[in-house]
Amino acid sequence: MDKKSFPQVIGVASGKGGAGKTTVSINLAVALGMRGHKVMLLDADLGMANAQIALGAHAPFNISHVLNGSKTLQEVLITTSQGVRLVPGASGLRDIAALDSGQIATMIHAFDSLDEPVDYLVVDVAAGIAPAVLEFMAACQRRFVVVCDQPSSIADAYGLIKVMSTEQSLDEIYLIPNMVGSAQEGRQLYRRLNDVCTRFLGISIRYLHAIEGDELVLQALRKYQSVLDYAPGSAASRDFRGLAEAVDQLPPIQSASGRMQFFMERMLHVSSSR
Ligand SMILES: Nc1ncnc2c1ncn2[C@@H]1O[C@H](COP(=O)(O)OP(=O)(O)OP(=O)(O)O)[C@@H](O)[C@H]1O
Ligand SMILES: [Mg+2]
Repeated sequence: MDKKSFPQVIGVASGKGGAGKTTVSINLAVALGMRGHKVMLLDADLGMANAQIALGAHAPFNISHVLNGSKTLQEVLITTSQGVRLVPGASGLRDIAALDSGQIATMIHAFDSLDEPVDYLVVDVAAGIAPAVLEFMAACQRRFVVVCDQPSSIADAYGLIKVMSTEQSLDEIYLIPNMVGSAQEGRQLYRRLNDVCTRFLGISIRYLHAIEGDELVLQALRKYQSVLDYAPGSAASRDFRGLAEAVDQLPPIQSASGRMQFFMERMLHVSSSR
């Protein structure tokens, strides 16, 4: 087991809603956990507490209690039946766009107060490209953009990649084609989008793994389970295990961007003890 020395933080966004951010986030978290890692999942969507429902968990408190100061992050964290440490999102609270920079900083810095081993933190952000979404994505080491092979999803993924790369100077952007017909279709979708990014933005995005469209993903959701738990032999489960393996093979990044990052203090501690 290749344990990382400091948490690797992955932000999952899509631009367009419904592309599969939450599905990818929860199943990636579960698949990384199955590989023996300590995994934390932050549901940074304040509109709907989707991750919690999709994992069949019931949390008394959520991210909104950390934001209003009534609970610490430690008090809000729950462990799901899959062993994932979940920071539940708030339900119907308000739009994530309503969060100001101070509140986002509060949330990100709260992770510095945690005293438990974490190999991976997966951050499931809200749809859109609101400043709050971009701030969360900037605080991660890697950014996964979930896209479906539909014109509006592709256009919004491109828009997201554009603001992240040009306005925010963010790199380490990976495309996760979701609901595709085959791995080959996933690669084609990646090539098309990457060509546009190269031509118009002068950047290239990376490819990791595509996720097939699979009816069992929907069935799993109806049973409040991850597809990996509900149907381990399904095509989607195979792809999520493949995605987790690809993630595991990436070299650990220690961000030196000087920006606000999740687990900043741990990173500083690791570098100062080297
Ligand atoms: N690979 C897949 N195969 C089949 N259905 C899928 C797949 N991925 C996601 N879905 C379904 O698509 C719907 C939207 O997925 P999900 O909730 O993960 O998207 P989202 O990007 O998180 O949406 P939102 O923007 O509302 O947060 C859900 O019903 C989910 O079960
Ligand atoms: Mg979602």
